[in-house]
Amino acid sequence: MSTTSETNAPARPATKAGKGGASAAAPRRTFAVISHPDAGKSTLTEALALHAHVLSEAGAVHGKAGRKSTVSDWMDIERDRGISIASTALQFHYNDHVVNLVDTPGHADFSEDTYRVLSAVDCAVMLVDAAKGLEPQTLKLFRVCRHHGLPVITVINKWDRPGRDPLELFDEIEEQIGLRPTPLTWPVGIAGDFRGVLDRETGDFVEFTRTAGGTTRAPERHVPAAQAALDQGDEWTTAVDEHELLAADGANHDQELFLGGITTPVVFASAKLNFGVSQLLSTLLELAPAPSARPDVEGTPRPLNDEFSALIFKVQSGMDQAHRDRLAYARVCSGVFERGMVVTHAATGKPFTTKYAQAVFGRERVSVDTAYPGDVIGLVNAQALTVGDTIHTGERVQFPAMERFAPEFFSVMRAKDAGRYKQFRRGVEQLEEEGVVQVLRSDLRGDQAPVLAAVGIMQFEVVEQRMKSEFSCPVTLERLEYNLARRTSAEDAPTINAASRVEVLQRGDGVYLALFPDRWRADSVARNNPDALLAELPAGGM
Ligand code: G4P
Repeated sequence: MSTTSETNAPARPATKAGKGGASAAAPRRTFAVISHPDAGKSTLTEALALHAHVLSEAGAVHGKAGRKSTVSDWMDIERDRGISIASTALQFHYNDHVVNLVDTPGHADFSEDTYRVLSAVDCAVMLVDAAKGLEPQTLKLFRVCRHHGLPVITVINKWDRPGRDPLELFDEIEEQIGLRPTPLTWPVGIAGDFRGVLDRETGDFVEFTRTAGGTTRAPERHVPAAQAALDQGDEWTTAVDEHELLAADGANHDQELFLGGITTPVVFASAKLNFGVSQLLSTLLELAPAPSARPDVEGTPRPLNDEFSALIFKVQSGMDQAHRDRLAYARVCSGVFERGMVVTHAATGKPFTTKYAQAVFGRERVSVDTAYPGDVIGLVNAQALTVGDTIHTGERVQFPAMERFAPEFFSVMRAKDAGRYKQFRRGVEQLEEEGVVQVLRSDLRGDQAPVLAAVGIMQFEVVEQRMKSEFSCPVTLERLEYNLARRTSAEDAPTINAASRVEVLQRGDGVYLALFPDRWRADSVARNNPDALLAELPAGGM
């Protein structure tokens, strides 16, 4: 991806080709970091950016002072809770490669969103706090990665602080998620006394040196084993013993097993001190897969060298309080994107001029001139685009629709002031298109009182807040007694709807959902109507 800082350059005439993405795709690595809140995701992102010279000092993107406000102060709810709902992508160049780091939402209530973001990457970095081990959110996110077939690289973070025994952490990873850890580096010094790592490939000691406050790149020195034994004494001997133990146990990296989701390469790090960051970057460059041909709805892989195509995995508005614009995030799947290019919106067949395309990270935006497979671009004011859409040039291609998760919370939404119906409708439409919440409708309830269906309760808070601040339409939300949804058909809807304590509504994508107070009720209705369709939906709780 190449960028310029000008944002108002005129649109270029449509380019005919947009072909030739394969050679540019090879050096690209597109990944996301998955972790439980507080494991150090933001700190690691900064450390990576610092290492790649995107930043001159850690904290400039979203460091301590600015973290809660700089990245995502576009919504009060994020600021109040210190969580990040907005997805962003950071791109940097490192050792002849282009690295795209796509940010994931920080809270489990936004699992649908996370699922979509993870559909845009080729690899995941699982960040584990050395003292806490695998935490609930890490486990949930890992399951999403498995669902997407993403290879996972593990970082054991905060090794500068007292923590658990590394082999014990590995047992936990293997037992709880079934991934076999194959460490690439091994710590020298127990957790809390992080001196450096043993590079398991070369056998050398990589010594780290602290810098003041960890705000600049930590100097590294590669020391041959014999010298390390003299300098580090018992700490080095222990590391070597453990490394040999692992080798005897077959815990060595195997690329095929890694890509097949059987093993996970592991590096040890302290994101805060910038220790182990270059090892992580090398691992990404050497082991993480480059973008590959993505299968379309028919299952035919779209060659990287084909004409331009991209998948919209996130739509977001209101990121910039001053402009209230709407950004559609697209992952380039094939070909070359050029600013000003006229692309086709696969769902409608209509042309769309990509006049303004941006790279977005935190509050930083730069205009994108060209982008290649694996890159993430933010298309500005892309009103027609919704989550899961495909855009392309040349012959029509459509990537599979994004799965919607089973909602578990249901509320009727009404405008506080009935006179603001126009704003109400606009808001509902927008939030539905962004996939902030699922919107269900029925003739009985009417358009003024749609039912909102959520996977996590916090989604309602986001809706309430945005309806008020963005659409000037304060709303009331009234929780319904339902807790479970099953998919039914237009044909069966009237029969199911006639059962007591059951309601059938239609979602924006046309799917009919039958809502039940509990599983018992759903099973009983299914038994009484054996010929009716009542299918389970993908589990929202991941
Ligand atoms: P998150 O994005 O995953 O939620 O985590 P974040 O980076 O915000 O880090 C959470 C806390 O953990 C921060 O502490 C951060 O400094 C600390 N941290 C992250 N990585 C490391 C590490 O490798 N070693 C140590 N010792 N700490 C780490 P905080 O108290 O919220 O802020 P601060 O005062 O430390 O800046």
